[in-house]
Amino acid sequence: MNVAILADIHANFDALSAVAAELAFRRPDRIYHLGDLVGYNAQPEECIRWAMANTAAGVSGNHDAVACGRATGRLFHAAARKAALWSRDRISPEARGYLSSLPVQRFIEGGALLVHGAPSEPGRYVDSVDHAAQELSTLFASVAAGPIFFGHTHEAGGFVRRKDRRVESVPAKDFRLLPGEPAMLNPGSVGQPRDGDRDASFLLFDTVDGTVTWVRVPYDVEAARRKVLEAGLPREFADRLRDGM
Ligand SMILES: [Fe+2]
Repeated sequence: MNVAILADIHANFDALSAVAAELAFRRPDRIYHLGDLVGYNAQPEECIRWAMANTAAGVSGNHDAVACGRATGRLFHAAARKAALWSRDRISPEARGYLSSLPVQRFIEGGALLVHGAPSEPGRYVDSVDHAAQELSTLFASVAAGPIFFGHTHEAGGFVRRKDRRVESVPAKDFRLLPGEPAMLNPGSVGQPRDGDRDASFLLFDTVDGTVTWVRVPYDVEAARRKVLEAGLPREFADRLRDGM
């Protein structure tokens, strides 16, 4: 089975539409998301509706939790909180109900585990070999027969623990999972990439042969930026789309 994993869409429907067109071409059997459907950008309702209609399942991100009232966002920095509350105030009851229904983690085909930030804590950033080594030794990681897919950092790539227990970085290219070498893999962000490449990012996972392929998709960044500014959302979020940082 071929599975597509999308993360951190963040209310960027221009980016999501371009990814959807690419998915229509690549035709995965299932699509999953890793949360943060909303926040930062200007089209939360459209992105949630797309996820409801097109994904098999997903998990809750920290911005989703604020937008559905499950969390206050008091630990967010001010601009991020403003955008999450902006999303909260604009989504429909159906969209809010969907966000409220999302679990913090879930297993899927191939024994893979979906989380937003980290298996130990949905809001934790896994952004270094040391963090990944800690997470790969948690109970949830040990019961996952397949890879752990995570988002939250908005950086495509990941980490693998080799048979000699060394944990190393995985660049966001083609990767092959091997038995006895657990991996944490990040599809990158659809709606607000921060790895220096402003193109939308996602990955494809072949559950049979264990290959993982990252895909970057150019989209109309200027259209998304304009919507952020016209909505009165913080300018820094428009700039991040332009810079990919
Ligand atoms: Fe995010």
